Amino acid sequence: MTIRITGTGSALPEKIVTNFDLQKLVETSDEWIQKRTGIAQRRVSTGETVASLAAGACTKALEMAGKAAEEVDLILVATCSPELLLPCCACQVQDRIGASHAAAFDLNAACAGFLFALNTAQAYLQSGIYKNALIVGSEVLSKLVDWTDRGTCILFGDGAGAAFVEAQAEDFVCENGRKSGVECMVQGADGARGMVLSCAERTLNSAFFSESQDGNLFVQMDGQEVYKFATKQVPACIQQALGQMGIAVDDVDWFLLHQANVRIIESVAKHLKADLAKFPMNIQDVGNMSSATIPVLLDACCRSGKIKRGDRIVLSGFGAGLTYGASVLVW
Ligand code: UT7
Repeated sequence: MTIRITGTGSALPEKIVTNFDLQKLVETSDEWIQKRTGIAQRRVSTGETVASLAAGACTKALEMAGKAAEEVDLILVATCSPELLLPCCACQVQDRIGASHAAAFDLNAACAGFLFALNTAQAYLQSGIYKNALIVGSEVLSKLVDWTDRGTCILFGDGAGAAFVEAQAEDFVCENGRKSGVECMVQGADGARGMVLSCAERTLNSAFFSESQDGNLFVQMDGQEVYKFATKQVPACIQQALGQMGIAVDDVDWFLLHQANVRIIESVAKHLKADLAKFPMNIQDVGNMSSATIPVLLDACCRSGKIKRGDRIVLSGFGAGLTYGASVLVW
């Protein structure tokens, strides 16, 4: 049984916020942000929601796959910034796109969420429970960010990316002889270090607990600790995935990494001794969109023709949790 991505889509808010715009909010500079992160601008919601962006991305993914919404078996939305605790975003997406036969639920593995959704979908499809799944990473992080904190507000952006994944009884063999489909996955978490990147919710009931619960409800981050984790864990889990497959770094055509910081991506390339030209980036234009970064980048690379049938791709990311993962697939 082969599990293949047969459609991708993405949706971004209209509003562009440049580094120069941020200079008016916090003490920073375009030069500092570009040098330390590689980001020049990001999209910020002025009304778009996690659900509306996710639905927009799903519609495009279904169009590419040539499928109708009624044919979807499962919708998985990876998000850490939903509008509502209940109902979950995936159920809202189901309603918005008219996927009336789909089961739907959310998962939260922060920036590694899309990879965890892909792995979860693969498990469902390989077990035969479902034949297909729409997997989505969608975030409106701008509402979780403290716009007076220059250490975090310069990093994040809003957006959504989706992929339609299908189980196929017959192998799709590409011209270069490779079999199209997901080849292997690695995922993990280090909860003991979780508080280096956190965001609080309401914690206790108000009926029986009278002390004030007013804390900082915005994203809190120890940037350097996250940086150290990413530059060590991402190459390690990519090596683990390639090791499972018995293939080398040179056998990979593209590395699509979570777009958190250009310096992190450069460091991963160096660790792997891989050519940086194999690491497409869009962080300069959209910033870090957490779970949406990888599917938005994948969609852009597929639609532009950069990624071609038969190319081997590694998707890898890390995020709050701390979570990490890598998937190897042939397009
Ligand atoms: O999806 C996962 C999300 N998180 C991440 O990926 C975060 C990973 N970490 C990073 O990307 C980097 O650690 C940051 C970009 C967040 C920060 O870069 P850094 O090179 O680690 O800077 P730093 O925290 O060591 O700060 C260096 C200096 C400090 O000033 P002093 O103490 O040297 O005077 C900061 O106060 O830069 C200052 N600084 C800024 N200056 C201008 C911090 N943020 C800014 C800013 N503009 N926006």
